[in-house]
Amino acid sequence: MTPMTTMPKALIVCASIHQQNTARIAAAIGDALLAKIVRPEDVAPADLYQYDVVGFGSGIYYGAVHAAITDLVRRLPEDGRRRPAAFIFSTSGLPFLWPLWHRRLKADLGRKGFGILGEFHCRGCDRWGPLWLVGGINRRHPDARDLDRAAAFARTIRGRFDAAARSGAGP
Ligand SMILES: Cc1cc2nc3c(=O)[nH]c(=O)nc-3n(C[C@H](O)[C@H](O)[C@H](O)COP(=O)(O)O)c2cc1C
Repeated sequence: MTPMTTMPKALIVCASIHQQNTARIAAAIGDALLAKIVRPEDVAPADLYQYDVVGFGSGIYYGAVHAAITDLVRRLPEDGRRRPAAFIFSTSGLPFLWPLWHRRLKADLGRKGFGILGEFHCRGCDRWGPLWLVGGINRRHPDARDLDRAAAFARTIRGRFDAAARSGAGP
């Protein structure tokens, strides 16, 4: 018999301004977690505390997540409320440096008391600046495999949330 798992109440905050690459990853993760998806400018910081799990997604712009995500996290109230568990995902033109690009957001979330359940990254079509002249790079990404990986990542997040909830430690 398959054990019952707890479906967390999940929110995804996603900044995707270039090609909607990260928005497509957000949709794949959101489907698997039954999560509501919002833009950072459309959510009040304190509203994040109504959720069990909050995912922060962004394209990478000039070596960083979008400033609207950074700004939202910095404005999160520092009070005694229970913090949701967090996860981070991104898409970028270059595939190598994403742990570096997530690092500041991870640190900011840690300072606000959020535990990180996991991180996901994949390449995204990039037509920025001179790349436009050659039709861009990663033209097919996110592709079907990236979207499958994103859905698998969401199931991992759900499993980790469930394990933490069962252990009584809280995610
Ligand atoms: C203004 C701008 C700056 C970018 N800077 C970087 C960068 O520093 N490193 C990188 O790998 N890709 C960079 N890219 C490419 C994007 O990270 C990539 O296309 C990403 O998938 C965009 O996500 P989105 O479609 O969700 O906005 C940049 C794109 C734009 C438009």
